[in-house]
Amino acid sequence: MRRISPVLQQDGVDSDLISLIKTILAACREISFRVSQGELAGVLGSTLAENIQGETQKKLDVIANELLKEVILETGVVKAISSEEEDDTVAGNPHGKYLVTFDPLDGSSNTDINSLIGTIFSILPAKAELAAEDAGQFLQPGSAQLAAGYVLYGPSTMLALTTGKGTRLYTLDKTYGGFLLTAEQAAIPKYTAEFAINMSNQRYWQPAMQAYIADLLQGKEGPRGKNYNMRWIAAMVGDVHRVLCRGGIFAYPRDSKDPHKPDKLRLMYEANPMSFLVEQAGGMSSTGYERIMDIVPTDIHQRVAVILGSKHEVESCVAYHQR
Ligand code: F6P
Ligand code: MN
Repeated sequence: MRRISPVLQQDGVDSDLISLIKTILAACREISFRVSQGELAGVLGSTLAENIQGETQKKLDVIANELLKEVILETGVVKAISSEEEDDTVAGNPHGKYLVTFDPLDGSSNTDINSLIGTIFSILPAKAELAAEDAGQFLQPGSAQLAAGYVLYGPSTMLALTTGKGTRLYTLDKTYGGFLLTAEQAAIPKYTAEFAINMSNQRYWQPAMQAYIADLLQGKEGPRGKNYNMRWIAAMVGDVHRVLCRGGIFAYPRDSKDPHKPDKLRLMYEANPMSFLVEQAGGMSSTGYERIMDIVPTDIHQRVAVILGSKHEVESCVAYHQR
């Protein structure tokens, strides 16, 4: 089985980018260990105690954020980072070539129930004309991403990674300590009969989404002419992983539940990296009105409606929005 560096070299990835990705993965291996310790991580997790002071009582998402931030800034090739756990961007090397934005522990409420969680990351080119301290560095569309991936902390720890040459899946070999290529190319089937959405928000959705899901629920007797199954992991990383493995549609649509927060998922470190992975696996990703990776962000923590997965099903859903 192939290790990650030769695969990335074969894909023509810049050597600095390869070492940055490997550094992120080193932190994820450590997070994987902490996560596997579960409740014990807070009191016993002391592997990096000498690096990070007073961390032993911290929650896993805070520990994951500190681990990632520290190792990424130490690489020297990163100009700034932006994290779900940080209000502001954090400057690194003013001459760094890259920007990294990440969700250190997606689905973190799942930690309480020992269920799926993961780390999502996205790498963008740094802008030479802007200072490292300038958050404007990050306001680039998803189509500018150089690499994107997630590490899923499940029964096995898996990595989905793209550098724009397809989406590959790797599995962490805990005996040797590295990620090994286990699926050369993820391929999302064009058609599906599986959807993932938080149905409890149904009455708050826009009419287009209400109509689309209502038609799926009618099954064989309805306009779609087939029975659909439903799944909801409550961690985007878990739902997107299922979509990469066997197809499906995943949606977190706009809703009116909280007028101050019409959209839930974050563009920069959730929607964009997942969209890159999904598109590179032959799927599609949209807000219902436009391609997610075309959006030019105005804020590093901006939220967006997300509809992604099997191409034909996403196209069908988008058609309801265009009516
Ligand atoms: O990061 C936000 C998130 O945890 C996603 O990972 C997940 O898809 C969603 O929120 C779950 O939302 P809800 O609480 O509505 O099920
Ligand atoms: Mn998240």
